[in-house]
Amino acid sequence: MPEPTSSDAPTAVTPQNPYVPETTGPKRVRTRHFHNAKQQGIPITGLTSYDMLTAQIFDEAGIDFLLVGDSAGNNVFGYETTLPVTVDELIPLTRAVARAVTRALVVADMPFGSYETGQTEALHTAVRFMKEAQAHAVKLEGGVRSVKQITRIVSSGIPVMAHIGFTPQSEHGLGGHMIQGRGDGAERLIEDALAVQDAGAFAVVLEMVPASVAAQVTARLEIPTIGVGAGPDVDGQLLVWTDFAGMTDGRVPRFVRQYANVRSVLTDAVHRFREDVQTGAYPGPEHSYE
Ligand code: KIV
Repeated sequence: MPEPTSSDAPTAVTPQNPYVPETTGPKRVRTRHFHNAKQQGIPITGLTSYDMLTAQIFDEAGIDFLLVGDSAGNNVFGYETTLPVTVDELIPLTRAVARAVTRALVVADMPFGSYETGQTEALHTAVRFMKEAQAHAVKLEGGVRSVKQITRIVSSGIPVMAHIGFTPQSEHGLGGHMIQGRGDGAERLIEDALAVQDAGAFAVVLEMVPASVAAQVTARLEIPTIGVGAGPDVDGQLLVWTDFAGMTDGRVPRFVRQYANVRSVLTDAVHRFREDVQTGAYPGPEHSYE
């Protein structure tokens, strides 16, 4: 993110937050900072978050935006895909994330079935996320096919992050988790990217597209591109937190770098707790009241 202006002084360092000096960006990230970041070649960082504690940690570490993704369908509610998750399920998660942050821009993901039927439905859903959950922006999937919805939401003063390439809400239509934008698909991807830019989106997520195509899209657009499996030549990177932190059970996509193994840390802790209770080693006198 770009250097702070006088009204955008950086967050103060605290002993709990030794990483803050690395955050040279604004006090509160706004959509205009995304634009400035692209112009100045400063990479934008994003993670998903579905709760207050992870939101606090990611915010304090200087992550620029938090996406309350419909991936909560898989990672919070245990659905097999993102398709069943509802607005009513995502609103409390979004509210928790929005209440936890002081700096990051909070983007609410509009779930499948909450915007496809038209502009009025799309605006109604976006308004709910802004009003009931205090999100700062919304995200929805689709390029050319979602232009009317993006235009209507943006014209009401709500910032929209677009999402093209592999769009998980269309996984059945796309024939599974398939890389998008190969061969003839490259032209269609560029068309989608230009369409969402013209519709007023402030940024666009490119999911699972070849790195060379993502680079072309990034060069053609004035708005920043945020890659999820789109290679290095984009304006920012977004990962699902449960994947990047090693919380997810099973295989993660090839594009994910795992920065921790939180699942094994928790598994070890819970085994030790269970054993201590069973052997009487916990609680000790130091955990008991006189
Ligand atoms: O819901 C989500 O986590 C997403 C990202 C993968 C882009 O939409």
